[in-house]
Amino acid sequence: MNCLLGIDVGTTSTRALVIDETGALLGSHAIEYPLLTPQPNWAEQDPEHWWRATMGTVPEAIAAAGVAASQIKGIGLSGQMHGSVFLDADDQVIRPALLWCDQRTGKQCESITETVGAADVIAETCNPVLTGFTAPKIIWLRDEEPANFERVRKVLLPKDYVRLRLTGEYATEVSDASGTSLLNVPERRWSEIMMDRLELPMDLLPAVYESAEVSGAITAEAAAACGLVEGTPVAGGGGDQAAGGVGNGIVNAGVVSSTTGTSGVVFAHLDEPVMDAELRTHTFCHAVPGKWHVMGVMLSAGGSLRWLRDTVCGEEVARAAEVGRDPYELMSEAAATAPVGSEGLIFLPYLTGERTPYANPNARGVFFGLSLRHGKSHLIRSVMEGVAYGLADSLEIIEAMGVQVTQVRASGGGARSELWRQIQTDVTGHDHSVIDADEGPAYGAALLAGVGAGLHDSVEAACEATIKVVDTRHADAQTGELYSRYRAVYRTLYRQLEGSFEDVAALIAAE
Ligand code: XUL
Repeated sequence: MNCLLGIDVGTTSTRALVIDETGALLGSHAIEYPLLTPQPNWAEQDPEHWWRATMGTVPEAIAAAGVAASQIKGIGLSGQMHGSVFLDADDQVIRPALLWCDQRTGKQCESITETVGAADVIAETCNPVLTGFTAPKIIWLRDEEPANFERVRKVLLPKDYVRLRLTGEYATEVSDASGTSLLNVPERRWSEIMMDRLELPMDLLPAVYESAEVSGAITAEAAAACGLVEGTPVAGGGGDQAAGGVGNGIVNAGVVSSTTGTSGVVFAHLDEPVMDAELRTHTFCHAVPGKWHVMGVMLSAGGSLRWLRDTVCGEEVARAAEVGRDPYELMSEAAATAPVGSEGLIFLPYLTGERTPYANPNARGVFFGLSLRHGKSHLIRSVMEGVAYGLADSLEIIEAMGVQVTQVRASGGGARSELWRQIQTDVTGHDHSVIDADEGPAYGAALLAGVGAGLHDSVEAACEATIKVVDTRHADAQTGELYSRYRAVYRTLYRQLEGSFEDVAALIAAE
């Protein structure tokens, strides 16, 4: 039996999984590590933790699969996007990596846009320069830590640092490179214009591959460290969202995914690199050769429900522990007892600011319409409804770009609640399906490895051979009509509160 290994270098953990050629999951394992926040708004990680987690989790996943390492014909990598690993001439990590959720680079985003010119930034990279992206992190290092900057010889993305340790190669691939603000996204190559105008040398960057292309092979040293076979090919892989897109089978026009993890991402395939006129969504290279994708990113989707679980639902958490169930199941059951629209209680899910549809770090969460009638079941349902309204915002922007939507594939933790899935179905008016293997980015990375290793002819063929829809929910028109009226209020609330969000941010900053 031929097998494939996918490794996802995530923000909370690194996860490895082994699948066979038919896509059946044989075994998986994850190891967690800390997120460092040395200052408010900073988010860093030690790349050595990713490597140690890889060395720990790969042999465990292979053991759980019950296969021999020699059966693994290809390895694919995926990972948290946008992070910056700064390496010196001896490949030593100079300082902890700055992550996608780090917000320290506001000044550098402005200076890059000014230096390069806003129109050229968009023409080259298809996106505005955002605080989470990689280029402003490099310029921050040059501005704030010049002695460290002097020593930098290469800048790698998180999964590509793990690739270096596995293969000895400096390499990335187009989907993850799209989130650096340094890739010419339409032409799928590094942007000379961005690098030249920022006075950065081209050899700071690794070689850039298509996602299914082989980028190197396991070295003898890495084979010994991870229980792999020397020479096993390592495919380019993908940024976590593009690899997750492949894992959900979003590789053709029509089917889009809606993933409710901590964040909420609506992801669609594009044949051409088209953009939202207001740049509210990201247009990046897809992990499918010669294709692109667009995504709307909500920062607190499942994160809003987790916050409610941790602050308000202690009783459900305790009861779930007693009876051996998941607290979210009990919360869903409670929410199902509240009526559609939560009797006028509307939740704005902007607990950590927002990216789509409002790129506003100062937006905050709101419960609007509380009355004596409202209990915990209403609170839970209104959080689910508020997140669904936010996901519908992203979907609507993507549809307005001319992207056809025939089906939505729900994935991530939020898709496990039938109630939440039905709410998303009714709010958006689109059928929501789930697939048999909801294994996220590591699964997509393994499929990309299958293409690189020649087990599948193309990314589309790999998805066709492995991904099956197992359940579809259909929208109820009457419920949808009621939701559209509530959603109109939800949208008005943001506009009405925008000034107040700024006022509160200023108050807190002055404290
Ligand atoms: C995508 C993004 C996140 C990170 C971490 O733009 O910021 O998905 O990749 O998961």
